[in-house]
Amino acid sequence: MQEERAHWGSSLGFVLAATGSAIGLGNLWKFPFITWDNRGGAFVLVYLACILAVGLPIMMAEILIGRRGRAGVVGALRSVVGPRWGIVGMWGVLCGFILLSYYTVIAGWSLFYFTRTMGWTLSGYPAGLQTGDLFGEQVGNGGLQLGLSLIFSILTISVVYLGVHRGIERLARTVLPILFGILLLLLASALQMEGSGDAIAFIFRPSFGELEPGGVLEALGHSFFTLSLGMGTMITYGSYIQRNQSIVKMSALIVVLDTVIALIATVIMFSVIFSVAGMEEQVGASTVGMLFISLPELFYSEVPFGTLLGPLFYVLVALAALTSTISLLEVVVSNLIDQHGITRERAALASGGTVFLFTVLAALSFGAVPALSGFEIFAGKAGWFSTADHFVSNWMLPTGGLAITIAAGWFMTRAATRDELVDGTEPGWFRYDLWRLFIRFVAPAAVGAVIIAVVFGVDFS
Ligand code: TRP
Repeated sequence: MQEERAHWGSSLGFVLAATGSAIGLGNLWKFPFITWDNRGGAFVLVYLACILAVGLPIMMAEILIGRRGRAGVVGALRSVVGPRWGIVGMWGVLCGFILLSYYTVIAGWSLFYFTRTMGWTLSGYPAGLQTGDLFGEQVGNGGLQLGLSLIFSILTISVVYLGVHRGIERLARTVLPILFGILLLLLASALQMEGSGDAIAFIFRPSFGELEPGGVLEALGHSFFTLSLGMGTMITYGSYIQRNQSIVKMSALIVVLDTVIALIATVIMFSVIFSVAGMEEQVGASTVGMLFISLPELFYSEVPFGTLLGPLFYVLVALAALTSTISLLEVVVSNLIDQHGITRERAALASGGTVFLFTVLAALSFGAVPALSGFEIFAGKAGWFSTADHFVSNWMLPTGGLAITIAAGWFMTRAATRDELVDGTEPGWFRYDLWRLFIRFVAPAAVGAVIIAVVFGVDFS
């Protein structure tokens, strides 16, 4: 006998959980450094265009497939689109599996920096400490990396184990308001710094000469990544919606919140960086380290109220990451529950445990084990971690997303999608025909063009 299918307590609960999934390391860690790498302005504009033209329509598509299918990603695609579409669901589950395995490692770093900054706040910033060296020691210490990832995996598994309503929704309801609060405090502090004007100009003043073709792919890939699209996270979360609330409204809210948070995080970080002489060069040397190398010391030397904001900031990163990792594990777990009749508890433990085996590989790929840190499949992306991230973000998510747009635009009937989006609860600005135009033509053409451009040799390096 199957137990009753889980569902959210309210539509606000769904929106918060989905926003929690969307806001994560993608917003706080990845977006700032890829914006830096791509010289800001034009990249940000292309990214915003991707969010609007591709991200928002697909967000609606995923949620509607989930709500209609009332099952995990494989089951929902099979029942709503057609039996063959289960394979796209499996692609999504595989993608969630890989993504979770390496995402957990970075999430673990936030725990390390929380304990460190807490220590500095309590007993003073150690004189002469080089945060670059600290970072190197941290990531190169295999035992430490495994410990941090293990703690984070256990947190993720526990929340998913508790269930949709008691675990995921409850966490999101508690965490999101805290997250917004901390971010606003940080913003208020950052805007007082003298570099904030330069930061805003860097982010918002486009200069197209500086954007390389590879940057367009990166912007597109990131718009999937940051909105948790392309692998069925939103199909899975959408499958737990019960009451009739506008999918259009909820999607728009999730997308706007995610985008605003990414921009705020970037303004904060760049304000700090531009305020310190020589910091631009230092950051340029290791953009990936922006969050964990450049920022920690600046909290203790430059940022107003930094000694308080430092530890708070890393709590923020950890919480934002946790509301994302649970959504990744939930894709795998809900699929095991729906397709294989396994109980939630067992599914959470078994799949979380299996993912952790791969987390071990990612955790050791920052120097601890040279064979894992050094190999290179994609030019410039050395090591297990970077290879997996490049493959997932730039290949798996865009292809999965393309399949989902085709499913919703070409294989579902007009009546079916219309029924989900136009039900009397949709906002006045919404035009169904425009959505359909985007999901059938604009989004697949954009994603397809970028994939083809890359296959046929756009140079990344
Ligand atoms: N969106 C999250 C972030 O920006 C990461 C994430 C969670 C994700 N679930 C996902 C990315 C599903 C892609 C697909 O950090």
